[in-house]
Amino acid sequence: MRKLFFANWKMYLSDADAEALAHVFADRAPTASAELAAAPGFTALERVGRALDGSGVALGAQDAFWKDEGAFTGEVAPKQLAALGVRYVIVGHSERRAMGETDDTVARKAALVVADGMTPTLCVGETKDERDAGRREAVVRAQLDAALAALAPDAPLVVAYEPRWAIGTGVPCRPEDVAVMHAMIRGVLEAAGRKARILYGGSVDPKNAASYLALEDVAGLLVGGASTRKDDVLAMLDLFSE
Ligand code: PGA
Repeated sequence: MRKLFFANWKMYLSDADAEALAHVFADRAPTASAELAAAPGFTALERVGRALDGSGVALGAQDAFWKDEGAFTGEVAPKQLAALGVRYVIVGHSERRAMGETDDTVARKAALVVADGMTPTLCVGETKDERDAGRREAVVRAQLDAALAALAPDAPLVVAYEPRWAIGTGVPCRPEDVAVMHAMIRGVLEAAGRKARILYGGSVDPKNAASYLALEDVAGLLVGGASTRKDDVLAMLDLFSE
């Protein structure tokens, strides 16, 4: 299966550094075993888009607003992202949910991203407290249900399981737990008659990436910190071709 390596550069990298790293991605280009996408900060989108142009590497965005136009100071419309050539838009990233983003907002964003011709990458995942309370399946199922309710059955969709406690912490989720959660997510999608790739994300690095890629339901990786470092990127991409 061709797996997706999705780089989320968060609020790291100057625009010039993002452009330089985009050239590294473009030089590697997609292969028979790996599809590539990179989501820089908004200010670097145009520059990174130019660097990726013609390489087959997809341009991603880290978020989008849930309206396409209006008096919304500081927001970025999905339509504006589409005009820059963005293909994948992350919605519901845990760092945004932690700042108050609700399932309803995430669902609206996902729907508008699809309406504007792009593919939402829907992040779902439980907090440490929710996990410890034995609620991880229920939490993730509710996040999924809310977003799926806003999307037509044939809408393009990527889902990323990212337990919140594993993001940016250096505490990765055990592959056996990822397998359980991915199987649950696949079950929800299948029951709803939907097809979507399911990624894993959360403290992925060159040392642990292979353990996730080996899992049957893991269709790729959403990588934050390690995706901003050239050597780590190249090491992880090598694992995709094995
Ligand atoms: P991390 O971030 O790899 O730095 O944990 C993952 C993500 O935010 O998608």
